[in-house]
Amino acid sequence: MKPKHFLQFKDLEHSEFEYLFQRSKLLKARHAKRELYQPLRGRTLAMLFEKNSTRTRVSFEAGMNQLGGYALYLNSRDTQLGRGEPIEDVAEVISRMVDIVMIRTFEQEIIERFASHSRVPVINGLTDEYHPCQILADIFTYIEHRGSIKGKTVAWIGDSNNVCNTWMQAAKILDFNLHVSTPPGYEVEPERGESFESMHLECFADPHDAAKDADLLTTDVWTSMGYEDEADERNQDFADFRVDREMMKLAKKDALFMHCLPVHRGQEVEAEVIDGPQSVVWDEAENRLHTQKALMEYLLLGRINNS
Ligand code: CP
Ligand code: NVA
Repeated sequence: MKPKHFLQFKDLEHSEFEYLFQRSKLLKARHAKRELYQPLRGRTLAMLFEKNSTRTRVSFEAGMNQLGGYALYLNSRDTQLGRGEPIEDVAEVISRMVDIVMIRTFEQEIIERFASHSRVPVINGLTDEYHPCQILADIFTYIEHRGSIKGKTVAWIGDSNNVCNTWMQAAKILDFNLHVSTPPGYEVEPERGESFESMHLECFADPHDAAKDADLLTTDVWTSMGYEDEADERNQDFADFRVDREMMKLAKKDALFMHCLPVHRGQEVEAEVIDGPQSVVWDEAENRLHTQKALMEYLLLGRINNS
């Protein structure tokens, strides 16, 4: 049987997300009580990083450990990947030795090729195109604070990057409205946006229009990993796309602010917003741990009775 992967948000269905959100809540509560729960004893997670990470590495490593398994950190510098071993061969070999794999890399195509040669589930820990584990945690965080996200409006201000692309997939599956506002030249790629109905995706030239009446405002760095050569140009191009207190005031009164982190205070968001009362960024980061534990448990063991 083919393993189940999580390479893009749309790899799972609505009902599977409903299950994962319930399960994350339960695992979070158990963790808070320090209850030992180790369904993955004897299992190994291989984590392959071709880009830097704080949250993704720590949440997967700590999460696997808490579930009773072992997490193995690999990077392209120390492995034969750095010397040109084909990703397909690496997948064939690693997936005969471990039970589940998490990869952070560049093009989505790399992870897709790995998965097609893997005997075990593969999780996308960020590619140039997508960051599905982030949005899993973000939506769980929204639900914790405000209840269901169905029918709500999320405003994305900034770059139409991997995190934005993943919000777009989530809007369709979980039935909420996504407002996207990017500077000219950084718009959502037409082939990504064209299959959307306006109830799930609306693009705005002016970020203030996108923010109006939103339930959640969110943004990300102006320069993602791998695009560092463009940083100076981007700093100029994105200057009017900073989330500030004025923009927050246009959103609903009880709107939340999220950022996947790491943040550059004073660039994509004013310090007063990210450190202010509407910001839930620390819960958002913590929830990477709980949602990914639920995800690994699901990919390896399937649905567990929620008790
Ligand atoms: N948000 C996120 O993925 O953070 P890291 O790059 O630190 O893993
Ligand atoms: N868009 C950012 C997210 C970092 C977690 C990047 O790809 O660098």
